[in-house]
Amino acid sequence: MSTRLPRAALAWIVLITCLGTMTLVLGVQEFLRLTPLDWTALALFSIAVVIADTYRVHVLPYHVSITVSTVLYFGAVLTFGQAAVVLALGCAAADVVLRKAPVKIIFNAANWSLAVWCSALVWETFTNPVMPVGIETLRSATATAAWLLAGIVFVFINAFAVTIVVALADRANVRNVVRSSFEGIVTQFLTLPTLGVLVAVLYKEAPIAFLIVALPLVAVHYSLKNVEDTRRQTSLIIERIADLLERRDVATVQHSERVAQYTRLICEEMQLPTDLADTVVSAARVHDIGKIGVPDRVLFKPGKLTDQEWGVIKRHPVDGADILAVVTTYAAGTRVVRHHHERWDGKGYPDGLSGEAIPLGARIVAVADAYDAMSSRRVYRNDIDESTILAEIRRQSGAQFDPLVVDAFLEALGARSPNGVLERFPAVG
Ligand SMILES: [Fe+2]
Ligand SMILES: [Fe+2]
Repeated sequence: MSTRLPRAALAWIVLITCLGTMTLVLGVQEFLRLTPLDWTALALFSIAVVIADTYRVHVLPYHVSITVSTVLYFGAVLTFGQAAVVLALGCAAADVVLRKAPVKIIFNAANWSLAVWCSALVWETFTNPVMPVGIETLRSATATAAWLLAGIVFVFINAFAVTIVVALADRANVRNVVRSSFEGIVTQFLTLPTLGVLVAVLYKEAPIAFLIVALPLVAVHYSLKNVEDTRRQTSLIIERIADLLERRDVATVQHSERVAQYTRLICEEMQLPTDLADTVVSAARVHDIGKIGVPDRVLFKPGKLTDQEWGVIKRHPVDGADILAVVTTYAAGTRVVRHHHERWDGKGYPDGLSGEAIPLGARIVAVADAYDAMSSRRVYRNDIDESTILAEIRRQSGAQFDPLVVDAFLEALGARSPNGVLERFPAVG
C-alpha cells in the first residue's frame, strides 16, 4: 500500500471506520450487560486474539494478512453475540505490538468490529435471545442454518472490506486482489469459522475445554504459512536461475534486474494500475529464463548465426513462458514473457504479432530490454554512446517499438535524471 492514499481508498477507510465505531458502541453496551464471568471469558478470548494476530500470515503480492483469530472471533460471536465486538480491541492491541500505522490499526479494528457485529446480528435474529452454541444446538436445523449464515456474513464482510481497501490503495482490480490473495488458501480460510463453532461448543460444555482447539489452530496457521513460504521460495528460485543464466556472460550480468527496473519506470510513467505493473515487472525480472534451453556455443557465438541457430534462440520466449506458466506467482505474466521479442510492425517473434495485438506488458519490456542490451554494449565494448542509444530507440518508435511506450520511457528518463537512467541503475553488475 502506498504512503499517499488515493481519495477513494481514504473514503472507504472512513466509511468502514464510522460503521465499525458505531458497531463497537452498540456491542460495548451489550458487553456491559454481561456477567463478570463472561467479562473474564471475553478477556481470555482477547488475549488469545492478540497472540493469534501477532502471528498473522501476509499473502503476496498485496500483503493481505490472514489470521487464525477468525476462529476466536466467530466462536465469541456464537457465545456472546454482539458483545464479542470488544475483541476488536484485542486486534488493535496486536497491531500496536506489531507497530502498525495508526490508520491500519483503526481500520483493522473497525473491520473486525463490523464483521463481528453483523454476524452476531444474523445469529441473534435466528436464535433470539442469544442461545450459546452447545451440543444440543448442533442438532437443530435452524441453529445450523443460523451459524452457517452468520459465518458467511462474517467471512464476506471481513475479506470484502480488506480487499476493497487494498484494491483502491494500489489502484488494482478487486478481482485480481481476491484471486492473488486467496488462491490456494480458500479451504483454510473457509475452515476458520467452522473451527469457531467448535470453540463455541467446547466453551459451552466446559469453558477451559476450548483450549483443545489451540493445536488445530496452530496447524491451520502453519498450513497458511507454508503456502506463502512456498510461493516466496518458488519466486526466489526462478529469479536465482535467471540470474545464474546471465552470469554466463559478463555483459549480461544483472540484465534482467535492470530490465525490471526500467520496466517499473515505464509502468509508473504510463500510470498503469499497480497490479498490472507488478505483473509486468515480475515478468521482466525473469523474461529471458527460457535461455536455459540455448547452448552457450549458440548464445555467445561471435560470428553470424545459421538459420538453425537462430531458430534455437527464437525459442527462448516460448520456453520461458512454458516454465513460468506452472508457477503461481508468475502465471499472470507468461504472455509478457512469450511476446517480449515481438515488434510493433509485426516482424518479431515467436508469433509475429503486431501493434496492440502484442500484450502491453510485452511492448514495455521490449523497450526496456533493448535499452539495456545497448547500454551493456556501451559499457563493455565502448562502441556506442548514450545519445546514440536513445536516438536508436526513438528511430525504432513505430517500427520495432510501440510509440506510446517509447514516449513514456524517454519522458521517464528525462524526468528521473538529466544524465539518463544509467546513473541510477549502472549497467556494471
Ligand atoms: Fe529475450
Ligand atoms: Fe533480455
